[in-house]
Amino acid sequence: MKKLFITITALAMFAAVLDAQDAKMNSFIGSLMKKMTVDEKIGQLNLTTAGGFVTGAAVNKDVQQKIKTGQIGAVLNSFSVASMKAMQEIAVRESPNHIPILFGMDVIHGFRTIFPIPLAQSCTWDTERIGQAARIAANEATSSGICWTYSPMVDIARDPRWGRIAEGAGEDPWLGSQIADAYVRGYQGTDLSKNNTMMSCVKHFALYGAAEGGRDYNTVDMSRIAMYNEYLPTYKAAVDAGAGSVMTSFNVIDEVPATGNKWLLTSLLRDQWGFKGFVVTDYTANNEMINHGMGDLQQVSALALKAGTDMDMVGEGFLTTLKKSLSEGKVTQKDIDQACRRVLEAKYKLGLFDDPYRYMDEAREKAELRTPENIKAAREMAARSVVLLKNDELILPLKKSGTIAVIGPLANSKPDMLGTWSMGGDEKTITSVVEGIRNVGGSPVNVLYAKGSDYTGDPMLAQSLSFMGVRPSAGPVRSAAELLAEAIETAMKADVVVAVLGESAAWSGEAASRSDIDIPAVQQDLLRVLLATGKPVVLVLVNGRPLTLPWEDVNASTILEAWAGGSEAGNGIADVLFGDYNPAGKLTATFPRSVGQIPLYYNHKNTGRPMDPRNKFTSKYLDISNDPLYPFGYGLSYTKFDIGDVQLSKHDLKGDETLKVTVKVTNTGKYAGEEVVQLYVRDPVASISRPVEELRNFKKIMLNPGETKDVSMNVTTADLKFYNSDLKYDWEPGEFIIFVGANSRDVKSAKVNWVK
Ligand code: BGC
Repeated sequence: MKKLFITITALAMFAAVLDAQDAKMNSFIGSLMKKMTVDEKIGQLNLTTAGGFVTGAAVNKDVQQKIKTGQIGAVLNSFSVASMKAMQEIAVRESPNHIPILFGMDVIHGFRTIFPIPLAQSCTWDTERIGQAARIAANEATSSGICWTYSPMVDIARDPRWGRIAEGAGEDPWLGSQIADAYVRGYQGTDLSKNNTMMSCVKHFALYGAAEGGRDYNTVDMSRIAMYNEYLPTYKAAVDAGAGSVMTSFNVIDEVPATGNKWLLTSLLRDQWGFKGFVVTDYTANNEMINHGMGDLQQVSALALKAGTDMDMVGEGFLTTLKKSLSEGKVTQKDIDQACRRVLEAKYKLGLFDDPYRYMDEAREKAELRTPENIKAAREMAARSVVLLKNDELILPLKKSGTIAVIGPLANSKPDMLGTWSMGGDEKTITSVVEGIRNVGGSPVNVLYAKGSDYTGDPMLAQSLSFMGVRPSAGPVRSAAELLAEAIETAMKADVVVAVLGESAAWSGEAASRSDIDIPAVQQDLLRVLLATGKPVVLVLVNGRPLTLPWEDVNASTILEAWAGGSEAGNGIADVLFGDYNPAGKLTATFPRSVGQIPLYYNHKNTGRPMDPRNKFTSKYLDISNDPLYPFGYGLSYTKFDIGDVQLSKHDLKGDETLKVTVKVTNTGKYAGEEVVQLYVRDPVASISRPVEELRNFKKIMLNPGETKDVSMNVTTADLKFYNSDLKYDWEPGEFIIFVGANSRDVKSAKVNWVK
């Protein structure tokens, strides 16, 4: 009781401090806004690009002059501290009210120390490590002038044709929510005004990952209930974690573009979720509402502001039309003031009014960028992101002796290791797979290299090899036959072949949708000839999305999914190949057998005619199974784990009781290793049709050979809740099936009855 009283008192004191801080901020911003003209207020809503990195049509002009006249509130993707300082000086010395600029950037998976792409990081199922990576990114970026990052990207993606699947945490809303929370807390810390924390911008709000056909920027159409249950939880998790800003998506939601969608940006985000930060458009998303058919620039800008958008990214629609709309009564002074206040609040919280140069610190830059600890963390993450898909002949781990032929267009490539959105990655600091194998194998290992093939023989796909700053490693132009001949000759000299195949970094990320997600034919040809040599072959995949690998799965005994692993990819991959780190990554996005199966995801509905091989009139294809090639949650280890039967603390539960689910996990193999023990729940009878299973918990544990551990996880009614047809979030009593296993397919189950 006494403890409770102390806790309540402490909470009340904390709330009082927050209230006082808010009051101070409100009064500061209130008096500042009294001095601002309408033009200056609109200026604060303008996010400009100063050149740097451009993904759309707009490049803004006369940036300096606009800063001087108070027409710019924020700048994105500017790289040098010197140029940011110069801009900030103009803003705080020469602009009418001396309001500092907010500098933002796509710091997506690291700033100068590049971590694996987010999809790869999610395969670690290690939220603490992901949070630490975000922390490291914030430490580095904030020393270089950046205090606002357009991350995390939390779009649920069930379609690997969509190149942006690389940027998120895969297909699962529950895991995605844990990861969203970790990113936001990692970037923002507990105090945004510190010089090493930066404001997070959760994106792309909302449903961007559901673009039809996996084609980027395409239409999205989804029922409200599917949104609430399947696609919105990750954004909400980021908002609940305190994300200071939200970025709108390019797509329509209920036929209205997100940027002008009042239901989305006001009713849902602010009224239902209580979001207090500011909303920024995606790159020219305001202007793109013209193409969506919502009117001219003036109309769409008014629509966006009134819907709840506060800042316009690079399109200058707000800057050039809002004043006119005000005079014509299409927007109100209150609309403009509200948006301006939200932007100023962000600047206040970041401490920019106290010290506009707080994040531009050359001394800190020297100390923070690419420290040995940061590089170590990136290497560890690279190794932990790797998913072992097959190791049938136990070729892995490799011995640190003999001759290894490392072959493939990605074997000695550096830029491809970084993956999408890695502007700060410097080619000189990247380790290729060949280098990593040399580094980790050491002098007893003789490493040979051959390119083996080009990335692709398809001229259309080849055009996209250089894109968004990514330039693949080049070499002399040689014919496919010459490359293959050299590869065979090199392989014949080796004891083992490591074939490094996959995708150029430019083939995933934004505007990088693919209709065919096989390994390109020239690379498959290479793998075929390497396998034909009879040498043991390890297929290492470097790519940004799930690929279709049916041929490889049948023909290659050993497959390692290494993704685009960041600056330390080569070392991290080599750590895994040699067994210095025993792989434990688990897929967070399903690998289909064929693009014809897409969308394919583990938490699907049962349908009225669930697949039955004996019955033609059930939900299936005539020419392919319904099963994925590798399911969600899947990944092997060099050791073997046995997961015992599911033991429940109770079979009948009531209301707020907690169910304890326990399994015995034994390492029955030869190596110490980690296993991700996954718990899924099914609600077989409910007022709406519920998924066949949904992830609700997991534990990543380490076991020595022969060791057994009891792994327990709790389930409460919070884990049983869903949005019903009235969009009420609740659970419904009855039977529940609890599944536990090493992936979403290989599970054991037990039933409970839970009443209210
Ligand atoms: C992308 C965003 C990104 C923005 C700024 C857009 O093209 O969709 O994810 O944050 O550019 O670079």
